[in-house]
Amino acid sequence: MIKKVFLLFVLITLGIVTISAQKLFPIYLDESKSIDERVANALSLMTVDEKVALCHAQSKFSVKGVARLGIPELWMSDGPHGVRAEFEWNTWQYAGWTNDSCTAFPALTCLAATFNPSLSYIYGKAIGEEARYRKKDVLLGPGVNIYRTPLNGRNFEYLGEDPYLASKMSVPYIWGVQESGVAACLKHFALNNQEKWRSHIDVEVSDRALYEIYLPAFKSAVIEGKVESIMGSYNKFRGQHCCHNELLLNKILKTDWQFDGVVISDWGGTHDSFEAVNYGLDIEMGTHTNGLTSDTNSPYNTFYLADPFLEGIKSGKYSMKLLDDKATRVLKLLFRTALQSKRPLGSLATAEHAAVSRKIAEEGIVLLKNSTDILPLKTNSLKNILVVGENATRMMTKGGGSSELKVKLEVSPLQGLKNAMGADVKITYAMGYASGPSMYGKVVPPKFNTDSLRKAAVELAKQADVVIYVGGLNKNYLQDCEDGDRLQLELPFDQNLLLNQLAEVNPKVVVVLLSGNAVAMPWLNKVPAVVQAWYLGSEAGNAIASVLTGTVNPSGKLPFTFPVKLSDCGAHSFGELSYPGDSIKQVYSDDILVGYRWYDTKKITPLFPFGYGLSYTSFKLGKATIQKSSFTLADTAIVTVPLANIGLLNGKEVIQIYVTDSKASVQRPLKELKGFAKMNLKAGESKTVEIKLPVADWAFYDEKIGNWNLEAGKFILSIGTSSRDISQKIEVAVK
Ligand code: BGC
Repeated sequence: MIKKVFLLFVLITLGIVTISAQKLFPIYLDESKSIDERVANALSLMTVDEKVALCHAQSKFSVKGVARLGIPELWMSDGPHGVRAEFEWNTWQYAGWTNDSCTAFPALTCLAATFNPSLSYIYGKAIGEEARYRKKDVLLGPGVNIYRTPLNGRNFEYLGEDPYLASKMSVPYIWGVQESGVAACLKHFALNNQEKWRSHIDVEVSDRALYEIYLPAFKSAVIEGKVESIMGSYNKFRGQHCCHNELLLNKILKTDWQFDGVVISDWGGTHDSFEAVNYGLDIEMGTHTNGLTSDTNSPYNTFYLADPFLEGIKSGKYSMKLLDDKATRVLKLLFRTALQSKRPLGSLATAEHAAVSRKIAEEGIVLLKNSTDILPLKTNSLKNILVVGENATRMMTKGGGSSELKVKLEVSPLQGLKNAMGADVKITYAMGYASGPSMYGKVVPPKFNTDSLRKAAVELAKQADVVIYVGGLNKNYLQDCEDGDRLQLELPFDQNLLLNQLAEVNPKVVVVLLSGNAVAMPWLNKVPAVVQAWYLGSEAGNAIASVLTGTVNPSGKLPFTFPVKLSDCGAHSFGELSYPGDSIKQVYSDDILVGYRWYDTKKITPLFPFGYGLSYTSFKLGKATIQKSSFTLADTAIVTVPLANIGLLNGKEVIQIYVTDSKASVQRPLKELKGFAKMNLKAGESKTVEIKLPVADWAFYDEKIGNWNLEAGKFILSIGTSSRDISQKIEVAVK
């Protein structure tokens, strides 16, 4: 800087330079200044047109910069499981580049199932590096909408049914992404808990459920995670679309939580200029530009935050203050990302990223049943393995909507098993059932005769030493896919029939389910083992094979409940107005009783409870202790729990602590997760862990006072290894 000033001084003295120093070395380029000063300076140099251009898209995934000032464009990409392939400028056609194949990381349900926040961090770091290498400034993820119904087509993109778990798992993901020099974009704010009628359904929910269930993960991502952008959701809340919602965006997000980042609309989620200008939206994306337009002018000028905004500013309808606030936020985002000179370099589809992806996949797989100790597979004595099921060979990174990926590598479950088994084991494959190809918004029937597929598989199963069945859902429309919900809890494509017939001819059927949602399992008693294996990304097959063969001891825990039947679920217990709504509005009558809070409180036995997952070894919890027995609001309870691995294999276990308010002036759930820790123990090893529980987290949202309230009295801490496996309780008093 000193050198620059000196040079300027010399040039001005010699009369060579007559323009102002401000113009030559403007403050916004001076890295010794704070971002706020640089942003204010850049803003002061911009015209109204240039400021407005920052508030809306210029292509499918980018926003114009200010070329005259050297301020770059802002580039975004989906998210959340990998960096999506490049699109054409203004169509939904992939651009056909050959340098945009990425690593696919496991779907966020799998990440949640690890119950291991340190894996969220390496996930975020790795995906951030891929986005950075691909020259993206914003990664559209993570998604933290709460799992309210197993029918939601997008549950696989989220972190499960519990707000505490979703908070703990999303924050390190965001840190990781943002340390890579890319902003995370938290989505979909808020109450986008189903895909059916997502663009217009008006959600009615109590303040209590809003604050206790649906907002906490967003709040921690903003306050602790310091997320730099957030995406408004498609649906309405209390009559207003969430992309321009006075209560959600102006009051809760920007005032109460002091969010200083950018609110980006979901693609096509903006519906009104006045509301978009006044109710918190900063960047409008995806409005009515389906690629079919024949306009000669850029259709982006017609966006609600484009010409109508500009005209409104010029006519005095909208204040300059509102425009300056939006432009300031977008500039700040650019200074935090594209204009950050010390921005780390990224990397794409590396061996390191594949290793991260595999590690998370292996740790997220949940062993649901292993009744005859059939798993891990006794590889020495197996000669003839039959693999059945379309999902054993299907690419699961294709389809599903905006999270679809173009991958450098995707190891299928069949290939993974072949990689893991010795050459002397014969592996035969039978498709068994068929769905159709993935088509956005359409169900395409399969080209196969499903009866013949089933018969062929059952015939082969008669001879096999073991049958590995790989089925579940897929990324087709009306399965685990955007823009539509599932139609039933049952497995699709006649898989129940196939599984029943396989189990009749062979007692050794190991079921591996790939899905981001719970499914009904009427055949559960007929098979010895069930493994929940999500959508695992690039290393899927290798990770599944590691768990099946025992190279990895499973340690995943369910981030949501598997109900026996759909009508057991809270959201489905109050008629159609509760789910899916009457097409115009919907009422969340299940209120705060979402997920295990519902099943516990209503005493409904689930098929598999929240927090549940088996291991190949056994653990024993020792007697837990607490530092004192009486607390105040400002305290943090510290529970010390000894854990012993009393089995023969190394393994990991998740200790979970649930809190019950034994007497309250309002209904409270039977218990709520308030702390957990994942421990890694060698066979025979014992360790203790301290789990910290801030007492303020035990409060409820009191609608009478419009604030959190912790009532004095007795609280019970339940300690266990799943929400239904509680081995001890500690009673404490809150004063
Ligand atoms: C999805 C978003 C996604 C956006 C851009 C929308 O349909 O809801 O999650 O980021 O498209 O692809």
